[in-house]
Amino acid sequence: MPTWIIVAALLLVNAPVLAGPWDKLREDGVHDPRSPAINRLQEPGDALSKLTPDSAGNMVRWVQSLEKGEINPRANLRPDTKIRLYDSDVMLNLNGGMPMVKFPHRQHTLWLDCANCHDHLFKAEAGANKLSMLAILNGEQCGVCHGAVSFPLTECFRCHNTAKPGGKPPRPSLPIAIPAGAVPPK
Ligand code: HEC
Ligand code: HEC
Ligand code: HEC
Repeated sequence: MPTWIIVAALLLVNAPVLAGPWDKLREDGVHDPRSPAINRLQEPGDALSKLTPDSAGNMVRWVQSLEKGEINPRANLRPDTKIRLYDSDVMLNLNGGMPMVKFPHRQHTLWLDCANCHDHLFKAEAGANKLSMLAILNGEQCGVCHGAVSFPLTECFRCHNTAKPGGKPPRPSLPIAIPAGAVPPK
């Protein structure tokens, strides 16, 4: 599939997340600025600006922030919930024109349980799933989370992170520049 189709679809899907850092609560269109409770809430920028910065999404590099101990989220609410970490990378996209996708279980299971993905999103068997970038852009598969709650789909090379044998090395940013003004203001 030509890369420009993906980029065009993605501009439509992801435009809001390109629009930069944290709104003040009074201006975010979600909180009622007239509510007396607004003064009791912490501004997102006060909390998030202290964490490892990212250049996309909600502007925090969450995996690094967790690994550096900047945050220490509670792993379970009930003591009987079993925490399962799984350290296994699965290579995806072995045949396309883009670099391969190394899917890291360890980083995911720092945040998630197996049941968040298995088996309703992915069968737990390498190569057993029919993955597609259009489905992902459509909010399915990886796109259930990426572009919604985890880093956005504009970060092509955070997923397409491994060169094919003899292939071009992954680049750190979008394959084409997004022209100024292409992203509608919020
Ligand atoms: C959240 C992870 C993720 C992100 C971000 C991502 N991709 Fe993908 N991409 C995948 C997966 C998984 C596949 C499916 C691999 C397969 O077919 O086995 C894929 C497949 C593709 C394919 C089809 C196969 C190929 O290599 O030709 C293209 C083209 C593609 N992606 C382009 C992009 C572009 C361009 C971006 C950024 C605008 C991007 N992707 C961002 C995970 C991602
Ligand atoms: C964020 C989603 C996600 C989570 C959470 C997740 N997996 Fe997976 N898992 C995948 C994907 C994607 C594949 C690759 C499927 C493919 O190649 O088609 C996979 C493949 C597997 C495989 C086969 C490949 C391998 O590594 O041997 C096993 C086994 C597996 N998962 C077990 C687990 C277990 C156990 C947990 C919890 C500790 C877990 N997974 C959590 C997405 C996830
Ligand atoms: C159930 C939700 C979920 C699904 C489905 C999911 N991810 Fe993730 N992913 C996360 C979360 C949460 C993080 C950590 C937060 C972040 O980096 O934004 C993460 C992080 C990652 C990272 C590590 C980023 C880093 O900084 O080290 C990669 C790479 C990645 N995902 C690729 C994928 C690919 C490829 C797929 C599909 C095969 C996928 N993810 C499916 C939730 C998900």
